[in-house]
Amino acid sequence: MSRSLPPLRIGQHTARYPIVQGAMAVRVSGARLAGSVAKTGGVGVISSLGLGLDSPYFDTHPKQGSFFIANQLALSDELKKARAISPNGVIGVNILVATKDYPAMAQTAAANGADLIITAAGLPLNLPAYTVDYPEVALVPMVCGLEAVQAICHTWQQQYDRLPDAFIVENSKVVGGHIGTTCEEFSGQIEPLIPQIQNYLQNHFHVEIPLIAAGGIWDSADVDRMLALGAKGVQVGTRFITTEECDADQRYKEFHLHADPADVTIVPSPVGKPARALRNAFAEKAISASTDLERRCIVNCLEICLCRDSRKTYCILQALANAARGDVENGLIFSGANVGRAERLLSVAEVMAELTGVREAVSV
Ligand SMILES: Cc1cc2nc3c(=O)[nH]c(=O)nc-3n(C[C@H](O)[C@H](O)[C@H](O)COP(=O)(O)O)c2cc1C
Repeated sequence: MSRSLPPLRIGQHTARYPIVQGAMAVRVSGARLAGSVAKTGGVGVISSLGLGLDSPYFDTHPKQGSFFIANQLALSDELKKARAISPNGVIGVNILVATKDYPAMAQTAAANGADLIITAAGLPLNLPAYTVDYPEVALVPMVCGLEAVQAICHTWQQQYDRLPDAFIVENSKVVGGHIGTTCEEFSGQIEPLIPQIQNYLQNHFHVEIPLIAAGGIWDSADVDRMLALGAKGVQVGTRFITTEECDADQRYKEFHLHADPADVTIVPSPVGKPARALRNAFAEKAISASTDLERRCIVNCLEICLCRDSRKTYCILQALANAARGDVENGLIFSGANVGRAERLLSVAEVMAELTGVREAVSV
């Protein structure tokens, strides 16, 4: 197999292949995965959520604010490590708008060499203000509907005289993790959404902003289908978990490897939105709101949190970190609906070859 795919241009940055690796918290997509994807021609993305937790900078009996400082230092380290793996590749950082330190993390990412900042879990209406000194950093909001695109474009143009450099458009029916804050829950259809958003951008702003389709992408046929709809690239999350370079513990990868679509369930989350995850002891407890479910807020990380504010549910950071460290029964294992197709762990280069249909190894 040998074919050519168009590169993906986002602001001043060009990835050789139109493949963005989805951010995966906590430390499922760290420097190793992101650097490896960037090195093989895709866009590698570090998830910034909770990076401070397993860093040398975090005091386990933190004083107010020490977790946030640890997060910034750990993000700076993670960017350096990813850059060492791929000196010339395109590397992004994903930041959740719903976290308290989102402005500080956006500044840290920009100041430490991130090529892109991707936001999720909220509308990044003030993001340009946080990166104003770094015009080379591309800004890429993740959305799952036209309303979010309208709100962001309108505000950014009025207040900052700029528009996003790309949008990631999520298919809420299949994506792993939280189902976007502005989604019509479970009714998302990506097929009409891509041309709808494109038309809106053309008609109102006379620009073509690249759209990147996320959710359920497994191989080059899926990539072709999204490009045929008008997307300029795809974002792939779940498929990269079963890679050698994924930053999660081996037991986490094995759990994914042995799961199938019947194991995928919807779990309530302290951010007040449902999330797609694999069924395990933890998910069962969260779904049934069992009295056994630990409800201790560990670092006060979210602006709005049902664990901290009402003890209604668990701490998302603790649950995701437990899983990524390998406690696959007492941790929360996010997953897209598209699980169960991997037969063994592959290298990132092998996954990139299957996604692009281009066999030759690349090194950027
Ligand atoms: C384990 C896991 C963790 C995730 N964590 C994040 C995150 O921290 N931030 C984010 O914007 N999206 C997150 N996502 C969503 C992915 O980045 C991606 O958009 C989505 O999974 C794409 O769909 P796919 O998994 O079907 O390829 C996560 C997904 C998974 C599976």
